[in-house]
Amino acid sequence: MKVEFYGHVRQYHNIKSEIDRNIHTVLESSQYVMGPMLKQFEGELAAYHGTKYAIGFGNGTDAIWLALMALGIGQGDEVITHPNTFFATAEAIWIAGATAVFVDCDPETKCIDPAKIEAAITPKTKAIIPVHLYGQCADMKAIRKIADKHKLYVIEDNAQAIGASGDGFKISELSDATATSFIIQKNLGTFGDSGALVTNNEKIDAATRKLRNHGSNARNVHSFGFNSRLDDLHAGVLSAKLKHIDAWNDLRRKWAARYTGGLKGAKNFTLPSERKGYRHVFHLYIIETKKPEHRDAFLKFLNDNAVDAKTHYSIAIHKQAGYPWGKGARINGAVPNAERNAATCISLPMFPELKEEEVDFVIAKCMEWDNAQK
Ligand SMILES: Cc1ncc(COP(=O)(O)O)c(C=O)c1O
Repeated sequence: MKVEFYGHVRQYHNIKSEIDRNIHTVLESSQYVMGPMLKQFEGELAAYHGTKYAIGFGNGTDAIWLALMALGIGQGDEVITHPNTFFATAEAIWIAGATAVFVDCDPETKCIDPAKIEAAITPKTKAIIPVHLYGQCADMKAIRKIADKHKLYVIEDNAQAIGASGDGFKISELSDATATSFIIQKNLGTFGDSGALVTNNEKIDAATRKLRNHGSNARNVHSFGFNSRLDDLHAGVLSAKLKHIDAWNDLRRKWAARYTGGLKGAKNFTLPSERKGYRHVFHLYIIETKKPEHRDAFLKFLNDNAVDAKTHYSIAIHKQAGYPWGKGARINGAVPNAERNAATCISLPMFPELKEEEVDFVIAKCMEWDNAQK
């Protein structure tokens, strides 16, 4: 047996007729860019989130920086996030021309630690970007409170947690806009790249709709903008898949519970936790070695034993070579939790189409390694 990290083709085969039907509809429509399938999917995505608007883009990174740009955030402004997220969160801040300010993550959830945010706020601070990392929501209630007190915008980076929720809050309920990514490996992923914003803010909707389309919302009429549209073929794939997202997230939760049950006796690594009242959708199931020096050897053991485990993300953003590439960046205080997360994380295979025997095989290999340690 070999346990793969992703199950893209299994997923396609499971709902092939629904995806093929939508692709066929688009192909026969002769409208492939800004056509009716995009409009349909945007409507479905807004309805799924309970927001007034959804706007599709070429990728999730663009969704973040276009939202910042729509809010007038750029040169001279500061945006707070944390350094153990995927690189694109910070990259989007830099593309917008702003300074990325990093604070530490919560030791348990690995999402931004709200207790660290206020000390990082200066007169230049304009926004906070919490990331719902690995599929669990950041503490949006605490973050909203700080944002209200200091009159800051909040943009949720929800590339990893579509369908998740917090204790008494939904994604997109407590922010100005929520960005998501539909790259294939996400919980809702297309066969390539795309992303979206959902928002109740009319200004963000109107501005980003123009910005994604060469500054145009009427033929031959332009202002400054870009080309970052979600094309109709991808919209068709995503429309077919969106109908399954809750069931797929339930399966991810089921495999996560099975991993946790099987691994709970391990002495040399810790398991992910779900905050009380939260719905974690396990984009990734991350374990952490108790000793950083164990991580690479454990990962190699799994890979050598037919388990395609990976790391997310083994180099924190501020530790990347060449950081910060002449861009504005500040680390506010020490970030030991983020650095420890980078040094100890291992991602086990996680996708809805896993099979029981595959999960059990991964558990057995992890426990074999654990038992072999002194
Ligand atoms: C946390 C996070 N933010 C942003 C992105 C950027 O999305 P994309 O790759 O679609 O640009 C991703 C995924 O790639 C991500 O995981």
